[in-house]
Amino acid sequence: MILEAIQYAASYPVTPTPFRPHIRSSVSLWSRARRCARDWAEHEENCRRFVQQTIAEMKQRRTVVVLGSGLLRDVPVELLSRAFDTVVLVDLVHLASVRLWLKAKGLRNVRLISRDLSGFEDAVAGKTPEPLSFLRQVPYLDLVISTNLLTQIGVGIERRLEKEGNQSAAEVLPQVISAHLGGLAGLPCRTVLVTDTSYTVVDRGGNREEEGDLLHGVPAPMPQQDWLWPVVPFGEESRDYRIDHRVVAIRDLR
Ligand SMILES: C[S@@+](CC[C@H](N)C(=O)[O-])C[C@H]1O[C@@H](n2cnc3c(N)ncnc32)[C@H](O)[C@@H]1O
Repeated sequence: MILEAIQYAASYPVTPTPFRPHIRSSVSLWSRARRCARDWAEHEENCRRFVQQTIAEMKQRRTVVVLGSGLLRDVPVELLSRAFDTVVLVDLVHLASVRLWLKAKGLRNVRLISRDLSGFEDAVAGKTPEPLSFLRQVPYLDLVISTNLLTQIGVGIERRLEKEGNQSAAEVLPQVISAHLGGLAGLPCRTVLVTDTSYTVVDRGGNREEEGDLLHGVPAPMPQQDWLWPVVPFGEESRDYRIDHRVVAIRDLR
């Protein structure tokens, strides 16, 4: 609790005012990631390796943008910093610990942008969301990476709709998920998408108690790699069950 309070207090002044309401959920993700570090390690390594393999194929490496960069756990940011002229990290919040780590590592070509990547405002206003259209303005863009962001956009929107919405999640979520996938597919550069697509609740006997779609009916793109991520290990929410997410990794979504 004390570490969380320090993280929150240190992140508050360095976070632009409109994004401060999101600090709390970033801090709670940070705590959870620390508690589950051992169970999440293989998933995080798979993500970093997939990005690394993509970079190895690339001759031109000027600017890379990372969407949902968060805690930089599944993004090989030191490698990106060495390989590219400029690295742009985009998220609602960049916690103080992440900023400090970047400074300590001396990664001078890394830029941080606070931005809502959901397209929520347009979707509820009845407009077509284009949450990635800002990428058209980024000069010399050679790679865009979206890592474990897509379904988190959905989680944030469900929370907002519960509080303030007069529209149903069933209407809005497929729109914003499709907009993210369509936005990536339409980019004139290399792309990496890593996202969870479905979940399974498993009991101590290995029985599948419940399964569900995290993409709200939007078809999951055909992956080049996929694996299971034990997002909620035994003991995290309950001693009696764990929750696994299926994760897909796709290069150059079209
Ligand atoms: C599961 S975490 C991703 C972890 C991150 N890639 C890492 O390496 O630690 C999801 C991230 O998406 C961000 N996020 C969720 N909704 C967002 C939105 N609407 N716009 C921008 N970022 C968002 C969260 O702040 C969080 O950092």
